[in-house]
Amino acid sequence: MRHFLDIHKTDADDLRRMIDRAHAMKVARADRPRGAADDDQPLKGHMVALIFEKPSTRTRVSFDVGVRQMGGQTMVLSGKEMQLGHGETIADTARVLSRYVDLIMIRTFEEATLLEMAEHATVPVINGLTNRTHPCQIMADVMTYEEHRGPIAGRSVVWCGDGNNVFASFAHAAGQFGFDLTFTGPETLDPEPACLDFAHGQGRPIRILRDPDSAVAGADLVVTDTWVSMHDPESAKERRHNQLRAYQVNEALMARAKSDALFMHCLPAHRNDEATSAVMDGPHSVIFDEAENRLHAQKAIMRWCLGV
Ligand code: CP
Ligand code: NVA
Repeated sequence: MRHFLDIHKTDADDLRRMIDRAHAMKVARADRPRGAADDDQPLKGHMVALIFEKPSTRTRVSFDVGVRQMGGQTMVLSGKEMQLGHGETIADTARVLSRYVDLIMIRTFEEATLLEMAEHATVPVINGLTNRTHPCQIMADVMTYEEHRGPIAGRSVVWCGDGNNVFASFAHAAGQFGFDLTFTGPETLDPEPACLDFAHGQGRPIRILRDPDSAVAGADLVVTDTWVSMHDPESAKERRHNQLRAYQVNEALMARAKSDALFMHCLPAHRNDEATSAVMDGPHSVIFDEAENRLHAQKAIMRWCLGV
Protein backbone atom coordinates (compact mmCIF):
# COMPACT_ATOMS: atom_id res chain seq x y z
CA MET A 1 0.00 0.00 0.00
CA ARG A 2 1.31 3.41 -0.90
CA HIS A 3 0.70 6.44 1.32
CA PHE A 4 1.70 9.87 0.01
CA LEU A 5 2.86 11.43 3.26
CA ASP A 6 5.86 13.52 2.26
CA ILE A 7 8.16 14.19 -0.66
CA HIS A 8 11.27 12.89 1.11
CA LYS A 9 9.45 9.69 2.08
CA THR A 10 8.50 8.89 -1.53
CA ASP A 11 10.86 7.30 -4.04
CA ALA A 12 12.43 9.88 -6.38
CA ASP A 13 11.70 7.82 -9.51
CA ASP A 14 8.06 7.52 -8.45
CA LEU A 15 7.88 11.30 -7.92
CA ARG A 16 9.28 11.86 -11.40
CA ARG A 17 6.77 9.44 -12.92
CA MET A 18 3.93 11.22 -11.11
CA ILE A 19 4.98 14.62 -12.49
CA ASP A 20 5.28 13.20 -16.01
CA ARG A 21 1.92 11.48 -15.76
CA ALA A 22 0.29 14.64 -14.38
CA HIS A 23 1.60 16.54 -17.37
CA ALA A 24 0.36 13.89 -19.82
CA MET A 25 -3.08 13.83 -18.19
CA LYS A 26 -3.27 17.63 -18.37
CA VAL A 27 -2.38 17.60 -22.08
CA ALA A 28 -4.87 14.80 -22.76
CA ARG A 29 -7.78 16.89 -21.48
CA ALA A 30 -6.74 20.25 -22.91
CA ASP A 31 -9.63 21.95 -24.75
CA ARG A 32 -12.23 19.81 -22.96
CA PRO A 33 -14.93 21.39 -20.81
CA ARG A 34 -13.73 21.58 -17.23
CA GLY A 35 -16.51 19.35 -15.94
CA ALA A 36 -15.94 16.64 -18.56
CA ALA A 37 -14.79 13.20 -17.47
CA ASP A 38 -11.39 11.89 -18.60
CA ASP A 39 -11.33 9.22 -21.31
CA ASP A 40 -9.64 6.92 -18.80
CA GLN A 41 -11.75 6.27 -15.70
CA PRO A 42 -9.18 4.67 -13.38
CA LEU A 43 -11.10 5.64 -10.21
CA LYS A 44 -14.40 4.15 -11.37
CA GLY A 45 -15.98 2.40 -8.39
CA HIS A 46 -13.64 4.14 -5.92
CA MET A 47 -14.78 6.26 -2.98
CA VAL A 48 -12.41 8.93 -1.62
CA ALA A 49 -12.75 10.63 1.79
CA LEU A 50 -11.45 14.21 1.95
CA ILE A 51 -11.02 15.29 5.58
CA PHE A 52 -10.41 18.92 6.51
CA GLU A 53 -9.51 20.13 9.99
CA LYS A 54 -8.45 23.51 8.51
CA PRO A 55 -10.01 25.71 5.82
CA SER A 56 -9.21 25.10 2.15
CA THR A 57 -10.24 26.26 -1.30
CA ARG A 58 -7.67 24.78 -3.70
CA THR A 59 -7.03 21.45 -1.98
CA ARG A 60 -10.70 20.79 -1.40
CA VAL A 61 -11.90 21.65 -4.90
CA SER A 62 -8.95 20.20 -6.83
CA PHE A 63 -9.11 16.82 -5.06
CA ASP A 64 -12.88 16.65 -5.44
CA VAL A 65 -12.82 17.57 -9.13
CA GLY A 66 -9.83 15.31 -9.80
CA VAL A 67 -11.55 12.24 -8.35
CA ARG A 68 -14.71 12.95 -10.37
CA GLN A 69 -12.80 13.48 -13.61
CA MET A 70 -11.29 10.02 -13.09
CA GLY A 71 -14.69 8.42 -12.49
CA GLY A 72 -14.60 8.15 -8.68
CA GLN A 73 -16.78 9.62 -5.95
CA THR A 74 -15.89 11.76 -2.95
CA MET A 75 -17.16 12.68 0.45
CA VAL A 76 -15.84 15.88 1.98
CA LEU A 77 -15.70 15.69 5.77
CA SER A 78 -15.02 18.41 8.28
CA GLY A 79 -12.81 17.30 11.15
CA LYS A 80 -15.01 19.23 13.59
CA GLU A 81 -18.09 17.21 12.66
CA MET A 82 -16.29 13.88 13.03
CA GLN A 83 -15.25 11.94 16.15
CA LEU A 84 -11.64 12.31 14.93
CA GLY A 85 -9.31 12.64 17.90
CA HIS A 86 -11.99 13.72 20.39
CA GLY A 87 -14.86 11.19 20.28
CA GLU A 88 -12.44 8.35 19.46
CA THR A 89 -8.77 7.83 18.68
CA ILE A 90 -7.36 8.70 15.26
CA ALA A 91 -6.42 5.03 14.95
CA ASP A 92 -10.03 3.91 15.38
CA THR A 93 -11.28 6.46 12.86
CA ALA A 94 -8.62 5.20 10.42
CA ARG A 95 -9.72 1.58 10.87
CA VAL A 96 -13.40 2.47 10.44
CA LEU A 97 -12.93 4.68 7.37
CA SER A 98 -10.86 1.93 5.77
CA ARG A 99 -13.95 -0.29 5.84
CA TYR A 100 -15.90 2.26 3.76
CA VAL A 101 -13.54 4.12 1.43
CA ASP A 102 -10.63 3.35 -0.89
CA LEU A 103 -8.47 6.41 -0.23
CA ILE A 104 -8.20 9.06 2.49
CA MET A 105 -6.86 12.61 2.04
CA ILE A 106 -6.45 14.55 5.27
CA ARG A 107 -5.57 18.19 6.05
CA THR A 108 -4.78 18.51 9.72
CA PHE A 109 -2.75 20.37 12.34
CA GLU A 110 -0.31 17.96 13.97
CA GLU A 111 1.83 15.71 11.81
CA ALA A 112 1.19 13.00 14.44
CA THR A 113 -2.47 12.89 13.38
CA LEU A 114 -1.52 12.18 9.76
CA LEU A 115 1.01 9.54 10.81
CA GLU A 116 -1.43 7.80 13.14
CA MET A 117 -4.04 7.78 10.39
CA ALA A 118 -1.54 6.24 7.96
CA GLU A 119 -0.31 3.68 10.47
CA HIS A 120 -3.78 2.32 11.16
CA ALA A 121 -5.58 2.81 7.82
CA THR A 122 -5.65 -0.15 5.49
CA VAL A 123 -6.17 2.17 2.49
CA PRO A 124 -3.73 4.81 1.20
CA VAL A 125 -3.53 8.14 3.02
CA ILE A 126 -2.53 11.44 1.37
CA ASN A 127 -1.14 14.46 3.26
CA GLY A 128 -3.25 17.49 2.28
CA LEU A 129 -1.15 19.79 4.56
CA THR A 130 -0.04 19.64 8.17
CA ASN A 131 1.67 22.25 10.33
CA ARG A 132 4.96 20.78 9.08
CA THR A 133 4.61 20.03 5.36
CA HIS A 134 2.49 20.42 2.20
CA PRO A 135 3.79 17.88 -0.32
CA CYS A 136 0.89 18.01 -2.84
CA GLN A 137 1.55 21.73 -3.30
CA ILE A 138 5.19 21.25 -4.16
CA MET A 139 4.41 18.48 -6.66
CA ALA A 140 2.22 21.04 -8.45
CA ASP A 141 4.98 23.65 -8.16
CA VAL A 142 7.62 21.38 -9.70
CA MET A 143 5.19 20.51 -12.50
CA THR A 144 4.49 24.21 -13.07
CA TYR A 145 8.17 25.17 -13.20
CA GLU A 146 8.93 22.41 -15.69
CA GLU A 147 5.98 23.19 -17.93
CA HIS A 148 7.25 26.76 -18.31
CA ARG A 149 11.03 26.33 -18.21
CA GLY A 150 11.99 22.65 -18.58
CA PRO A 151 13.77 20.49 -16.02
CA ILE A 152 14.05 21.98 -12.54
CA ALA A 153 17.19 19.96 -11.77
CA GLY A 154 20.16 22.29 -11.26
CA ARG A 155 17.98 25.44 -11.15
CA SER A 156 18.24 28.06 -8.44
CA VAL A 157 15.12 28.42 -6.29
CA VAL A 158 14.88 31.14 -3.64
CA TRP A 159 12.31 31.10 -0.84
CA CYS A 160 11.58 34.49 0.77
CA GLY A 161 9.93 34.86 4.17
CA ASP A 162 8.71 32.34 6.73
CA GLY A 163 10.43 28.95 7.05
CA ASN A 164 7.05 27.22 7.21
CA ASN A 165 5.35 24.00 6.11
CA VAL A 166 5.38 24.87 2.40
CA PHE A 167 9.09 25.70 2.60
CA ALA A 168 9.75 22.34 4.31
CA SER A 169 8.25 20.47 1.35
CA PHE A 170 10.35 22.62 -1.03
CA ALA A 171 13.39 21.58 1.00
CA HIS A 172 12.47 17.92 0.58
CA ALA A 173 11.89 18.48 -3.14
CA ALA A 174 15.34 20.07 -3.53
CA GLY A 175 16.83 16.75 -2.43
CA GLN A 176 14.54 14.62 -4.61
CA PHE A 177 14.51 16.71 -7.80
CA GLY A 178 18.07 18.05 -7.50
CA PHE A 179 17.66 21.83 -7.48
CA ASP A 180 19.51 24.45 -5.44
CA LEU A 181 17.40 26.02 -2.72
CA THR A 182 18.12 29.22 -0.79
CA PHE A 183 16.12 30.37 2.21
CA THR A 184 16.05 34.08 2.99
CA GLY A 185 14.16 35.26 6.05
CA PRO A 186 14.69 36.39 9.63
CA GLU A 187 16.56 34.04 11.95
CA THR A 188 13.54 33.91 14.27
CA LEU A 189 11.49 32.26 11.49
CA ASP A 190 14.14 29.86 10.22
CA PRO A 191 12.97 26.48 8.94
CA GLU A 192 13.04 23.48 11.27
CA PRO A 193 16.57 22.02 11.04
CA ALA A 194 15.12 18.54 10.35
CA CYS A 195 13.67 19.66 7.02
CA LEU A 196 17.12 20.81 5.86
CA ASP A 197 18.85 17.52 6.70
CA PHE A 198 17.30 15.52 3.89
CA ALA A 199 18.50 17.85 1.11
CA HIS A 200 21.91 18.03 2.78
CA GLY A 201 22.13 14.24 2.76
CA GLN A 202 21.23 14.23 -0.95
CA GLY A 203 24.13 16.57 -1.71
CA ARG A 204 21.91 19.67 -2.05
CA PRO A 205 22.65 21.72 1.09
CA ILE A 206 20.22 24.59 1.52
CA ARG A 207 21.74 28.08 1.73
CA ILE A 208 20.42 30.40 4.42
CA LEU A 209 20.97 34.11 3.75
CA ARG A 210 19.61 37.04 5.72
CA ASP A 211 19.89 39.61 2.94
CA PRO A 212 17.03 39.12 0.44
CA ASP A 213 18.78 41.12 -2.31
CA SER A 214 21.83 38.87 -2.37
CA ALA A 215 19.69 35.74 -1.95
CA VAL A 216 17.52 36.47 -4.99
CA ALA A 217 20.42 37.50 -7.26
CA GLY A 218 20.39 35.22 -10.32
CA ALA A 219 17.41 33.12 -9.18
CA ASP A 220 15.42 31.02 -11.67
CA LEU A 221 12.41 30.85 -9.35
CA VAL A 222 11.32 33.09 -6.46
CA VAL A 223 8.73 31.70 -4.04
CA THR A 224 6.92 33.08 -1.04
CA ASP A 225 3.92 32.25 1.14
CA THR A 226 1.68 33.89 3.71
CA TRP A 227 3.42 35.44 6.72
CA VAL A 228 0.86 33.93 9.10
CA SER A 229 -0.09 30.30 8.52
CA MET A 230 -3.35 28.71 9.59
CA HIS A 231 -1.71 27.10 12.63
CA ASP A 232 0.01 30.33 13.78
CA PRO A 233 -1.75 32.20 16.58
CA GLU A 234 -3.45 35.45 15.56
CA SER A 235 -1.53 37.11 18.42
CA ALA A 236 1.73 36.52 16.50
CA LYS A 237 0.53 38.46 13.45
CA GLU A 238 1.99 41.88 14.24
CA ARG A 239 5.36 40.49 15.32
CA ARG A 240 5.58 38.31 12.22
CA HIS A 241 4.70 41.19 9.92
CA ASN A 242 7.39 43.34 11.51
CA GLN A 243 9.99 40.61 11.12
CA LEU A 244 9.03 39.70 7.57
CA ARG A 245 8.41 43.10 6.00
CA ALA A 246 11.97 43.24 4.64
CA TYR A 247 11.32 40.00 2.74
CA GLN A 248 8.35 41.19 0.71
CA VAL A 249 8.58 40.08 -2.92
CA ASN A 250 8.15 43.30 -4.89
CA GLU A 251 9.25 44.43 -8.33
CA ALA A 252 12.59 45.71 -7.05
CA LEU A 253 13.40 42.31 -5.53
CA MET A 254 12.20 40.38 -8.60
CA ALA A 255 14.43 42.59 -10.77
CA ARG A 256 17.46 41.02 -9.04
CA ALA A 257 16.45 37.52 -10.23
CA LYS A 258 17.15 36.27 -13.77
CA SER A 259 15.19 38.15 -16.41
CA ASP A 260 13.15 35.01 -17.18
CA ALA A 261 12.68 34.03 -13.52
CA LEU A 262 9.30 32.72 -12.41
CA PHE A 263 7.36 33.82 -9.32
CA MET A 264 5.26 31.36 -7.32
CA HIS A 265 2.94 31.51 -4.32
CA CYS A 266 0.80 28.55 -3.24
CA LEU A 267 -2.11 30.91 -2.39
CA PRO A 268 -4.12 32.10 -0.57
CA ALA A 269 -2.09 35.33 -0.60
CA HIS A 270 -2.31 38.55 1.33
CA ARG A 271 -1.74 40.96 -1.50
CA ASN A 272 0.82 43.66 -0.76
CA ASP A 273 2.10 41.88 2.35
CA GLU A 274 4.31 38.95 1.34
CA ALA A 275 4.11 39.87 -2.36
CA THR A 276 2.87 42.95 -4.16
CA SER A 277 0.01 42.80 -6.63
CA ALA A 278 2.45 44.09 -9.25
CA VAL A 279 4.47 40.88 -8.85
CA MET A 280 1.48 38.57 -8.41
CA ASP A 281 -0.14 39.88 -11.60
CA GLY A 282 3.14 40.63 -13.37
CA PRO A 283 5.06 38.90 -16.17
CA HIS A 284 7.03 36.52 -13.92
CA SER A 285 4.01 35.19 -12.05
CA VAL A 286 2.63 31.68 -12.66
CA ILE A 287 0.46 31.54 -9.53
CA PHE A 288 -2.75 30.51 -11.27
CA ASP A 289 -1.00 27.79 -13.28
CA GLU A 290 0.28 26.53 -9.93
CA ALA A 291 -3.27 26.47 -8.59
CA GLU A 292 -4.53 24.63 -11.69
CA ASN A 293 -1.72 22.11 -11.51
CA ARG A 294 -2.82 21.02 -8.04
CA LEU A 295 -5.60 19.23 -9.91
CA HIS A 296 -3.34 17.42 -12.38
CA ALA A 297 -0.56 16.61 -9.91
CA GLN A 298 -2.98 15.20 -7.34
CA LYS A 299 -4.70 13.04 -9.96
CA ALA A 300 -1.32 11.44 -10.63
CA ILE A 301 -0.65 11.10 -6.89
CA MET A 302 -4.00 9.35 -6.33
CA ARG A 303 -3.35 6.96 -9.23
CA TRP A 304 0.06 6.13 -7.79
CA CYS A 305 -1.45 5.51 -4.34
CA LEU A 306 -4.12 3.21 -5.74
CA GLY A 307 -1.90 1.59 -8.37
CA VAL A 308 -4.43 2.34 -11.13
N1 CP B 1 -2.50 26.19 -1.54
C1 CP B 1 -3.47 25.58 -0.84
O1 CP B 1 -3.31 24.47 -0.30
O2 CP B 1 -4.64 26.27 -0.81
P1 CP B 1 -5.94 25.95 0.06
O3 CP B 1 -5.58 26.24 1.51
O4 CP B 1 -6.99 26.86 -0.47
O5 CP B 1 -6.27 24.50 -0.10
N1 NVA C 1 1.58 28.07 5.01
C1 NVA C 1 0.17 28.13 4.73
C2 NVA C 1 -0.15 27.40 3.48
C3 NVA C 1 -1.60 27.43 3.07
C4 NVA C 1 -1.88 26.65 1.82
C5 NVA C 1 -0.62 27.59 5.91
O1 NVA C 1 -0.25 26.55 6.45
O2 NVA C 1 -1.60 28.24 6.30
